[in-house]
Parts: sequence; C-alpha cells; structure tokens
Amino acid sequence: MRRVYFDHAATTPVDPEVAELVMKYMTESYGNPSSVHSFGREVKKPLEYAREQVRKAIGAAHVGEIAFCSGGTEAANMALRGAAYANRQKGNHIITTAVEHHCVLTTCEQLAKEGFEVTVLPVDQYGRISVEDVANALTDQTILVSIMHANNEVGTIMPIAEIGKMLKSQERRIIFHTDAVQSIGKLPVDVDQLNVDMLTFSGHKIYGPKGIGVMYLRRGTWWQPIMYGGGQERRRRPGTENAPAIIGLGRAVEMAVANREEEAEKLTKLRDKLVDRVLSSIPNSRLNGHPTERLPGHASFCFEFVEGESMLLSLDMQGIAISSGSACTSGSLEPSHVLLAMGIPKEIAHGSLRVTLGKYNTEEEVDYFVDNLIPIVERLRKMSPLTGGGACTPCACAGCDQSKK
Ligand SMILES: Cc1ncc(COP(=O)(O)O)c(C=O)c1O
Repeated sequence: MRRVYFDHAATTPVDPEVAELVMKYMTESYGNPSSVHSFGREVKKPLEYAREQVRKAIGAAHVGEIAFCSGGTEAANMALRGAAYANRQKGNHIITTAVEHHCVLTTCEQLAKEGFEVTVLPVDQYGRISVEDVANALTDQTILVSIMHANNEVGTIMPIAEIGKMLKSQERRIIFHTDAVQSIGKLPVDVDQLNVDMLTFSGHKIYGPKGIGVMYLRRGTWWQPIMYGGGQERRRRPGTENAPAIIGLGRAVEMAVANREEEAEKLTKLRDKLVDRVLSSIPNSRLNGHPTERLPGHASFCFEFVEGESMLLSLDMQGIAISSGSACTSGSLEPSHVLLAMGIPKEIAHGSLRVTLGKYNTEEEVDYFVDNLIPIVERLRKMSPLTGGGACTPCACAGCDQSKK
C-alpha cells in the first residue's frame, strides 16, 4: 500500500547523511569522549565540533553556552527548573502561555506545586500572545518568562523578539526562555535577534536522531543544574554524552539552517495548495492558527460534525499519516488544550486534524491526501449523530471500550 508521511511536527525521518554519521560513531569510533586515550579523543573532537555547529546555527556567542541533553522535553525542564531554583531569592513569579507544549506547561505546574507563582497567559483566536499581555503580567517578583517560538499544533509564530526586547527594557533582570523545537530549521533562529537568554530544541524534528536535544544558556544567566553526577556538559547535564546522536544533531542543524529558506519556500507552496484544496472542497471546515504568522509546512484544520480520531484512522487505512488534536486522557479523548485556549468550542475542536509537511513530500502526495480526505469526511458525516446519522463512531482511544454517540 502507498504510504504518505504528513506528520513532521511529531518527528522526521533521519537524513541519510546524518544516519551514516551516527552509525560511524556507534560502530567505528565508539569511545567515551571523556576517555583520555585515542578512542576517546577521536569522539571528543567531533562532539565539540557539533557544539560549534549548534552555536553557529543559533547565533550564540560562545560554545560554552550550548549543553546537550536527551531532547526538547529534558532541555525545557533543565532550562525552567534550573533558572527558577537559581533565582528563588530574587522572586518567585513565572509567566508562560496556555498553548505551550506539555514539557513547559507541566514543568510550570510542578514549579507551582513547589511554591512558585505561575501565570498562564491566554492567547487570541489565532493562538498568539501579545507583548502587552506579557508586560501587564509582570510583577516585581517575576524572574522567568517562557514562551514558545512556534506552536506545535497550529503552527502560529509568537512575537518572541518583541517580547524579549520589552523584557530587556525592564529595570530588573527577567530571564527569557523560548521553546524553539518547532521553529528551528523553519524560521530564522538567532538568540541575539530573538533577545532570549535560554533556548531549547530537539534533534528529531530536523531530520536528526531522536533522544537528543540542546539547551542554550546565555553567559551570565543565573542557573543551576537539576541533575548531579559527572562533570560532562560543564556540569549542566551529567552523564556520558550520547556522542553519536550529538554528532548527528550537529550535522542535522547545520543542514537545516543552510537549506532553510529554500525549504520554507517549497513547504509554503505545498501547504498553501493543500489548505486551498481542503477549504474549497470540504464544507464546514476551517484553518486553525494565524493566517500569515505561521510555520511553512504546518496546517491545522477543524471539520465540523466529525471526530479527528475517526479521520486519522480512516486516513491511516489509506497509508496517510497525520495527527489529530485530541489526546487520550484516562479513557476519553480530550480536545487539544491549544485549540480550546484559542476559543474553539469543544465539539468543533474534537474534529481537528494536523498536517505537517516535510522536505521529501510532493504535490502529488498532497493531491492523494485531499482526494482521500474528501470522501472520508463525507462518509463520517453521514454516520454522525450531529448530522442525523446516528451510528456509533468507535472510540479510537487505546484501552477504551466505549463507543461514542
Ligand atoms: C514545541 C515542542 N516542544 C517540545 C517538544 C518535546 O521534544 P522532545 O520530543 O525532543 O522531548 C515537542 C515535541 O513534540 C514540541 O513540539
């Protein structure tokens, strides 16, 4: 059966050149980079080169500002918790937004349990935060602000540079973190232009390996480790480095940044074609997120009178991989917190689909997707009780034996 991968915001295939490099450092040059002998030295050098590749890719001033860890989730934990604990004497207030990835939201929830005061700012109908809202939320206790660069579900881009500028203009030092997992390789990412003190991203969204990530920490930022052990990564992230993945990430980010403009142009064209075809051929459908301030390959839709999970499963049967905006929580499908924060009613948010394109996708695949989606939506709507159908739509949730009317 034909297979089409349209879920690049979830993960990307590893670029063959990156895979080859990773393989080399798994099988040929497998020394521990902390070892003094030649096996260790021949890994230490490319590992440090990867740090330089990352430094360059994000415009950091010093290689020492880059620490590798296991991915975007761990990097966000390190950034937020490390900054919160280290600055506790100065204040206890943290600001974030309602549409962050769970790695930020749940970390903030945990910090709130530990005594920090956390403000979760609402967003507008496009999933965007305004500079004024952040400025108005500041108090004389604010130590940390964390706002994502681009949203993983709807692709909306946040005004990070402007927020960073406003924060810099405050009398007291407020640390600014951005989660750049979805933006790196798709938007210009420069830590000075964005005015951020901490920036985190992951290897597997940019055709690099899974289980590897980066925390950028601007020199002079008060921060403390959250894990203890050996002296690796300047004591910021102890434990033997995942050298093959780090070296792979270095090459992946270098390629992603070098090809960014060309890729973005291609993805924007493909996405626009996809969006136009979907909206013009499927009634009662809408595009979620900001009309212009959005990631190049990202399209999120809501289709009334159908469930995202049912569409996802039907498309999967045609070999098409997309994601829905629902998450399985304790046996029921909860609509995405991002769509709800944008004010989309629960019943409409249930019918959401996220399509995220990547560098190997083609126009023909876009046509294949839309040609399949149209009859699927029609069929599901006929079965929907909301349109008079009345048949049961099986709940797609693993472990759930309920059928939803
Ligand atoms: C915006 C955002 N932040 C963080 C993460 C987590 O990254 P990782 O999977 O590397 O832990 C993701 C992954 O989907 C993401 O989209």
